[in-house]
Amino acid sequence: MAGDAVIQGDLARAVIDPASYAEWDTLLDTFDHIRSEHGVVKVLPEDKGVFDPFWLVTSYDDVMRISKDNQTFLNHPRTVVFSLNEGIEFAKAMTGGSPHMVASLVTFDAPVHMKYRKLTQEWFMPKNLRSVEDEIRALAEKTVQKLVDSGPEVDFVPLVSAPYPLHVVMQIMGVPEEDEPRMLMLTQQMFGGQDDDLNQSGMKDMTPEQITQLVAGAVADFEKYFAGITAEKRANPTGDVASTIANATVDGEPLNDRDMMGYYIILAAAGHDTTSASTAGAMLALAKDPEQFARVKADRSLLPGIVEEAIRWTSPVQHFMRTAAQDTEIGGRQIRKGDWLMINYVAANHDPAQFDDPRRFDAARSPSRHLAFGAGAHQCLGLHLARLEMRILFEALLDRLDSIALAGDPQRSKSTFVGGLKTLPLRITPS
Ligand code: HEM
Repeated sequence: MAGDAVIQGDLARAVIDPASYAEWDTLLDTFDHIRSEHGVVKVLPEDKGVFDPFWLVTSYDDVMRISKDNQTFLNHPRTVVFSLNEGIEFAKAMTGGSPHMVASLVTFDAPVHMKYRKLTQEWFMPKNLRSVEDEIRALAEKTVQKLVDSGPEVDFVPLVSAPYPLHVVMQIMGVPEEDEPRMLMLTQQMFGGQDDDLNQSGMKDMTPEQITQLVAGAVADFEKYFAGITAEKRANPTGDVASTIANATVDGEPLNDRDMMGYYIILAAAGHDTTSASTAGAMLALAKDPEQFARVKADRSLLPGIVEEAIRWTSPVQHFMRTAAQDTEIGGRQIRKGDWLMINYVAANHDPAQFDDPRRFDAARSPSRHLAFGAGAHQCLGLHLARLEMRILFEALLDRLDSIALAGDPQRSKSTFVGGLKTLPLRITPS
């Protein structure tokens, strides 16, 4: 049976403080300790009212079970932990009562969720993605050319791993290239809100309210932008995802403005920082292991294994939250209706009961049933796209580079939600 049912103080802080997610090995030590000493455990806030206590779930089996049981564990009303209480109140005031600043697939439950998911699900299937492969390859080659031109000392993140997935997702959404810098800034404001270097605010140590205001400003700007795109795609549908959303109906009615904006925002935001983090992680793994780099350069059949392992190893979406719809039990703990749970993908993907030597980058793990894309009804809609764009990018990189080496210490972002490398200094030798 697991140890104490409750953690607080330093240990609780290590779970919810964005800064602790920048120190990867220490973070993994924390999760290993919690998983083996406590099992499922309740995390208590230092000051009551900052956030509500929640159950932290760190084992692979428990995260899998919760993810797949979408009847018992709901996404509404709180999807991520940085929705601190102060932020939730602010969101309610802004939206006229909803705790979600943005209404989207990740905030919906059955039966509404599937009605919305179906609108674009087909679009993201491998069969359809074949039609955009050539465009993605062209973007990859252009991006790698820029990297080669900037060498031999480069920072891989701003040159490649941040802009490339953004280009891809903007291209499939039909957003013109000249508007991409604005989209990049807005997504960083939304998801980088916890990291002073990434949130574009120029402010340090922001309060939860300031972060929420920054996110609200970004949402408003997104909405203004996509209102224009909607009008355009209604007048001239072009077969891209934005045209599908702009012209979609649910139960015979067109989507209302808030739902439509939520759809654009989730695709634009979910499709970019995530893939950016796993791409940078794959490059880091190859930079640290020149033999592996040489092997995959010579034998491209190894590439899918590298992509999949990079996604597990980095686990860019670090957690989601669920709320219990009824009394239940997880890991021997009694969970009450209304209790809040954190399913931690970083911890689950580093559970030694599921993955042998989980901190080792091992492209030969087969099969690797990792949880980086989640599981169940909400499993990542863009997982085939993410794999495809990473594979195409690495094909281009391996074609153009003879070797890569680390040229400094990479830094991780401070974020409890979507996180990964924000710098990756490399020395590259073109072929
Ligand atoms: C949902 C991870 C790339 C779009 C999710 C979830 C995770 C995730 C963990 C929640 C799953 C759950 O609750 O069970 C990732 C990772 C990516 C990635 C690690 C890259 C390596 C993408 C891309 C797109 C995308 C490229 C598309 C443009 C979405 C959407 C959802 C989602 C729309 C919500 C699905 C739903 O609630 O039904 N993703 N994602 N993601 N992802 Fe991704």
